[in-house]
Order: sequence, then C-alpha cells, then structure tokens
Amino acid sequence: MSKEVFPLMKKILVMSGKGGVGKSTVAVNLAFALAKKGYKVGLLDADIHGPTVPKLVGIEEVKGLEVEGNKIKPIEVNGVKVISIGFFLPSKDTPVVWRGPMKHKFLEQISNDVNWGDIDFLVIDCPPGTGDEVISLTQLLNPEIAVIVTTPQSVALEDVRKAVNFAKKANMKVFVVENMSGFRCPHCGNVVYIFGKGGGEQLAKEFGIKFLGAVPLDEKVMESGEKGSPFVKEESETSKAFMEIVDKLIKEI
Ligand SMILES: Nc1ncnc2c1ncn2[C@@H]1O[C@H](COP(=O)(O)OP(=O)(O)OP(=O)(O)O)[C@@H](O)[C@H]1O
Ligand SMILES: [Mg+2]
Repeated sequence: MSKEVFPLMKKILVMSGKGGVGKSTVAVNLAFALAKKGYKVGLLDADIHGPTVPKLVGIEEVKGLEVEGNKIKPIEVNGVKVISIGFFLPSKDTPVVWRGPMKHKFLEQISNDVNWGDIDFLVIDCPPGTGDEVISLTQLLNPEIAVIVTTPQSVALEDVRKAVNFAKKANMKVFVVENMSGFRCPHCGNVVYIFGKGGGEQLAKEFGIKFLGAVPLDEKVMESGEKGSPFVKEESETSKAFMEIVDKLIKEI
C-alpha cells in the first residue's frame, strides 16, 4: 500500500530472531536520534502482545486517539510521531487474545489509517521472531530497510539467522546492530565483555551485510527505559556510540 501514499518515506523495520535483545530500545532511540538530526520521524510500535514503546517514551497514560478526517492522529513526543497498540487497549495489563486474521486486520488498519503526515522515516518496532505479525507488516508496509538487533552471544542462534534470511528474502537492505555489548566498569574503567565480543560483526560478515556498530551494556539504557526518556536525548558514551550507528545507517541509505 504505502508506496503511493508516502512516496519518499523510508520504512525501517527493527527486528530480531530473539526476544529481549533490545529491539524496542534500539527502535525508540533510532527514531529519537533521527529526529535529533532534524529528520521528521514516525515510530510504529507493532508488538501486539508486548507493546513497550509507550513506556519507553513516557506516554503510558495515553488512551484513545484523535481522528482527523478519517485518519488516526499519532501522539507527538519531542517531534516524533508515535503509534502503539498500547493506545488502543483499556489497560497495559490487558492481554490481546486475537487470532492471526484479527492481528492482520489490526496491522492493516494501522498501516493504512494513520496520518503520519510528511515524514522522512517510519521506524517500526517488531515483535520477536519472524512470525505472522512480521510477515503481515512486511506485506503491508513494504519496508526498504531492516535493522537486525542481536546480542553478541545470540548470533550463535539459528533464530537470528532466520531474521536475516527473512529480511533478505523480502528485498530489504539489511543492517546489523549489536546490543548489550561491552560494559564499562564504573569502578576501574575497564570494558568487560559480559556477553562476549564481536558477534554482530561476525553475523554481518557471514551474510555479506553491513554492521552498523555496537551499543554498550549500560545501566543508563535500562534507567532511561524505566524513566520513559530515550537515552540519546542526553550526552553519554553510549549515546555517542548510538549516534555513530545512526550516522552510518544514514550514509548507507
Ligand atoms: N544496551 C543496553 N544496556 C542495558 N540495558 C539494556 C540495553 N538494551 C536494552 N536493555 C534493557 O533490556 C530490556 C529489554 O530491552 P527491550 O525491551 O528493548 O528488548 P526487546 O528486544 O524489544 O524485547 P521484546 O522481545 O520483549 O520485545 C529492557 O529493560 C531494556 O532497558
Ligand atoms: Mg520489544
């Protein structure tokens, strides 16, 4: 659908074979980093069963959305336009009990009926894996770019390779970001590779795709998530590493 509707917008699917590797953290900070660089950005939280974007950007209290014309108006946070299934649920503890066709219908609706306006990038936070929802999103939005998030050690797992193969098959330009990489000890200043080292780079090499860089394991990342304020908004070693990843991505696309 969206090609005609948003002729110039680039859609970036943030995905991974695995849960809990930091997809939502990367998606949210990617959106805010692009906005910090002056781009107009939309952020779509498409994780039907575990929408975390409202918490990560500090708008958990939003319930229901305004409609303009016949389109849904996203919530704007620091210039980033946000849509999450979380906005449509009565409470954050309400589970979604839809079967496949209903999930597809919902994703179809948010793919077609949101007024993103004139944006340069739409960043899409995917649920883990390459299941029904990710297939639906790919069919509906036709994203040009995939950012695969992996932890250094999970590269050894088949699921991550599955995600790369999926994105390649769907003709997306595929990039790798390694998350939860080296941890700088606040006491001695040395970097400790708790989850190993170099996995993201190794994955990129194996598939002939681009490695964008590594995000350190940093308690500020976790705290910023809890606070609902993306860490790229403030200066830090991790924020700098992340901005370099975004620079590299922009250069490549
Ligand atoms: N680089 C990091 N350093 C420290 N904590 C991190 C880092 N990246 C993510 N986290 C934390 O790890 C947890 C999981 O991150 P996140 O929710 O982004 O993962 P996810 O891949 O989206 O998970 P899910 O598969 O459930 O959607 C969060 O508490 C987050 O704050
Ligand atoms: Mg997530």
